[in-house]
Amino acid sequence: MNKMKQTNNYMFAGYDTVELAKKYGTPLYVLSEESIRSRCKEISTDFLGKYENSKAVYASKAFLTMTMCKIIESEGLGLDVVSGGELYTAIKAGFPMDRIMFHGNNKSYDELEMAINNEVGRIVVDHIDELYFIEEIGARMDKTVKILIRVAPGVEGHTHKYITTGQKDSKFGIPLDKVTIDEAVSKAIASKHIELMGFHFHIGSNLFENDSYVAAVKTIMNLYKRLKDDFNFVAKELNTGGGFGIYYTEKDCVKPLKYFTDAIMKAIYDCCQELDLDMPGVIIEPGRWIVGEAGITLYTVGAVKEIPGIRTYASVDGGLPDNPRPALYSAEYKAVVANKYGLKPDRLATIAGRCCETGDILIWDLEVPEIKRGDILAVLSTGAYNYSMANNYNRIPRPAVLLLSKDGEKVIVERETYEDLLRKEVVPF
Ligand code: LLP
Repeated sequence: MNKMKQTNNYMFAGYDTVELAKKYGTPLYVLSEESIRSRCKEISTDFLGKYENSKAVYASKAFLTMTMCKIIESEGLGLDVVSGGELYTAIKAGFPMDRIMFHGNNKSYDELEMAINNEVGRIVVDHIDELYFIEEIGARMDKTVKILIRVAPGVEGHTHKYITTGQKDSKFGIPLDKVTIDEAVSKAIASKHIELMGFHFHIGSNLFENDSYVAAVKTIMNLYKRLKDDFNFVAKELNTGGGFGIYYTEKDCVKPLKYFTDAIMKAIYDCCQELDLDMPGVIIEPGRWIVGEAGITLYTVGAVKEIPGIRTYASVDGGLPDNPRPALYSAEYKAVVANKYGLKPDRLATIAGRCCETGDILIWDLEVPEIKRGDILAVLSTGAYNYSMANNYNRIPRPAVLLLSKDGEKVIVERETYEDLLRKEVVPF
């Protein structure tokens, strides 16, 4: 650790990033444990500590390793998983199963069996078929399964269309029309092996306004009122999903967690007053907000190509395989030349990835000082949906993940090797 060193190098979580790049190689995912924990603590003080019967589950799709499960467990949060693989990771990390929320728009029968066998806290039912599967498995295993029903509340989140999920025309959730909802609710109520706890919605990801949450809450609370009247069913819980936006660039108008949660809670409270309902226990499910800003990615600059009068491309030793977000969603990032952090940017360079793919550009026209082969580039806010979405396109091994804390630096995922790339291959001749 080089905490006190006077340097031009970019420091992250008290560590010299250029030294880290030298020691561990690049590309390298770097995470600050303190920063993850401080987000969890903000949830504890501004939400869990403030509102009775509230719960928070970390949406593990943002970034999941066994170490992350341990951090989340020790911070007292639950875990949202969406696949057998995510569930398996949590099981292997010894994560308390009663704090698991199991999601997915097409869970397989085997995954449901795995979840029920391990007695996960809630299964979030996304399709009517699942109710039949859960009942059958529950009967066979002699278990009662607590569920929420996911609905698409018919609300548009203001975000990229690939990550908006709350609109009616969505693959997620049971349609909100009366016939479908009534069929699902009566089926769940009638089942001896299902306990319907309430409903779930998730509007979208990386949202900066709370108005769509409020609109969705109103829709669901009106549904709760109708279900109370029609079925004498009292919903005990409401899961309002995740989606709180984070800082990627100056364009992002970031709000604190309580801007979202206070508005959600007020809307629920007001609806309860107006509709004469009891306050349900409220659950939130942030992923990106917990881990996104806690991560950076370090790269080494290689070929720098200047096209006179047009543009300078600085290619790095990673790109689309470790961060597909710019190619998928035109996501924008900020970056700094880590070994020249003190120097004033005086030119533009487009940061290109190393893949055989024109769309593999990490950042267009980044303001930089002189940039050369061998420089270290730190791309910021890469903690969420980078490692978890990484792939091996062009047979590029995935980077290592390094966790920084006050007690030192720890590799929590080793760098993949060429051997790893061939591990599952079978040559039939
Ligand atoms: N709950 C549910 C049911 C979800 O589907 C999601 C995200 C979350 C919670 C957490 O959302 P967050 O708080 O992280 O925004 N790969 C995309 C993001 C996809 C998010 C899918 N669902 C990206 O890189 O932007």
